[in-house]
Amino acid sequence: MRIAFTAVLFCLSASAMAHPWDDAKLPPDKRAELALKAMTEDEKLTLVAGQFGSMKDGWEPPAEARMGSAGYVPGITRLGIPPLWETDAGVGVATQGHTRDKVRERTSLPSGLATAATWNPQLAFAGGAMIGAEARDAGFNVMLAGGVNLMREPRNGRNFEYAGEDPLLAGTMVGNEIAGIQSNHIISTIKHYALNDQESGRHSVNVQIDEAAAKQSDLLAFKIAMEKGNPGSVMCAYNLVWGDYACESSKLLNDILKKQWGFKGFVMSDWGAVYSTAKAANAGLDQESALQFDNQPYFAEPLKKALQDGGVAKARLDDMVRRILYAMFANGVIDHPVQIKDSDYMAHAAVTQADAEEGIVLLKNQNNALPLSPAIHKLAVIGGHADAGVMAGGGSSMVYPIAGNAVPGLAPTDWPGPVMFHPSSPLRALKSRLPNTEIGFAAGGEEAVNLARQADAAIVFVTQWTAESIDASLQLADDPLVAAVAAVNPRTIVVVESGGPVLMPWSGQVAGIVEAWYPGTSGGEAIARVLLGEVDASGRLPATFPRGIEQTPHPVLVDKGDVTYDEGAMVGYRWYDAKGLTPLYPFGYGLSYSRFKHDGLTATIDNGKLKVSFVATNIGERAGKDVPQLYVGGRLAGWQKLELKPGQSQTVSVTIDRRLVNAMNGVCEIKLGTSSRDLELTASVRVPPTF
Ligand code: GLC
Repeated sequence: MRIAFTAVLFCLSASAMAHPWDDAKLPPDKRAELALKAMTEDEKLTLVAGQFGSMKDGWEPPAEARMGSAGYVPGITRLGIPPLWETDAGVGVATQGHTRDKVRERTSLPSGLATAATWNPQLAFAGGAMIGAEARDAGFNVMLAGGVNLMREPRNGRNFEYAGEDPLLAGTMVGNEIAGIQSNHIISTIKHYALNDQESGRHSVNVQIDEAAAKQSDLLAFKIAMEKGNPGSVMCAYNLVWGDYACESSKLLNDILKKQWGFKGFVMSDWGAVYSTAKAANAGLDQESALQFDNQPYFAEPLKKALQDGGVAKARLDDMVRRILYAMFANGVIDHPVQIKDSDYMAHAAVTQADAEEGIVLLKNQNNALPLSPAIHKLAVIGGHADAGVMAGGGSSMVYPIAGNAVPGLAPTDWPGPVMFHPSSPLRALKSRLPNTEIGFAAGGEEAVNLARQADAAIVFVTQWTAESIDASLQLADDPLVAAVAAVNPRTIVVVESGGPVLMPWSGQVAGIVEAWYPGTSGGEAIARVLLGEVDASGRLPATFPRGIEQTPHPVLVDKGDVTYDEGAMVGYRWYDAKGLTPLYPFGYGLSYSRFKHDGLTATIDNGKLKVSFVATNIGERAGKDVPQLYVGGRLAGWQKLELKPGQSQTVSVTIDRRLVNAMNGVCEIKLGTSSRDLELTASVRVPPTF
């Protein structure tokens, strides 16, 4: 009897685990090894060559792919290995290429730069968890997110996808988004590795930079994000670095990423970023993405041939596949197969709104022009399609809004367009909150000036469309409109919807300036709530706003040959500090509707760690959010986002990342302030030489 019972148990467990690698009690690397050993060479080759998930130049993806998606890697049914279904990107589920089906309309977070401007890692996690849930519900188990390239170039067309100029802020915010995405048992990437810091000549420029400086800036941002988010995959970039294409740079992939950092996941290429077979495979590329974008299918037949002729060792193919399987097991892709279902878009709209609200930066507020009083009698709302919606950035990360484009037909209508406006109208949001106010709208011209002349306040919305594959001008087309309105209404407030820093020649002529970035699905609501003071203005700049492009390290954009970052790790505010330049608005800057005091700054070495503490107090009349920042050796070393009631104090303790400790003659100086340029308190601590 007992034998029969045991046999039944064994059969049950065996059938439940058709394969030994199905045992979730085993560590992911063990499970990967077991699955690898069961594979034929052709099955291994299946996993390293991806396909485009949408239509392109006559290519049509197989039925199993998710039509309109970025990528698809067939699975191995015999072994219970599912396909990799890949969707873009960092703000939500995007649609790529020319799809035969309806585009996927989903929830969009505000831009990555807006999330960085919240300085709130919990919001970054929540946003990642939300878009990862929508990816999973749409049938995807890989999200091509985690853009963390530093803002060396304020004109970079993809700055809106990233998280600004500082490695600690960018790495922390993007690392938390990645963790949020992967909390859905799907894989997130981190991208674009590395130094893809401009779009001009992105397929051909060769970045030159001192290696140590790179490890103190761009590569440090990747490292910090990977420590916090543990992404299953790294996407290598289009450009060359140190003379090799990033996806065939052994220094970047084998030496730094895999050997020095111990990365156990897999390196996938960007779409069209593979230029060889053996060189790329031996340099550390593990998977060719969307081979339809490359000059030839390098990791298909050519790889099979390279294995036969010894150009690529069979052990290297095993390592490629082992890494892919490791990422799948480690992130639950195999144990939690995706199933297509509806998402809770109402709940998700609230998630993106909270993010957008906290990312909005109040840059100027003269004579308390803001918040708008509910008693305001006549209000002029002008420009920026504020009557219809809010702008989004263009390219592969663009999410098609639920209910469609609020302003269809704006050029370019094809990739990296269409120019997208999420149908969350700031005008409608203001009207719903100001029932007793006469609110007029005008797109521009004389009508706008006349409307402003007769109003108690005028809000001018200005937009700057930026997109993947093109770099932008910092000059706003709407500058003349702002100047004309400011000339007739002393209470002119400008709301900027931009992909990054913009020039503001009218900043001295207006009463209020609000940077709203690309505020996502609920952006109009978020803008209205900040303008009315329903929530405090609590965003802080994740990047410096220059007075002019001549203040930047490379006023002339180089789009071919070497791009030499001789500023090294002096990125953003560190450059302005080193050159003694005064920007328009500094890194970390932003106003609140309340006022805060900081005191009691102390620093100690406690159990081998540098610990800093201080007290923040809300000395204003209303609840508000404060972002006190710590700087060591002129660079951001820590911060805290605080919500404080009037009169409330909070003691803050921050442990400084050892990599950011900078001691002169054994003494480390820590400064506390409200931006990189407004540093109010200093503390020093003796640091042992071993530190
Ligand atoms: C794009 C982008 C990358 C994106 C991929 C798939 O060209 O560089 O960020 O994930 O291709 O669309």
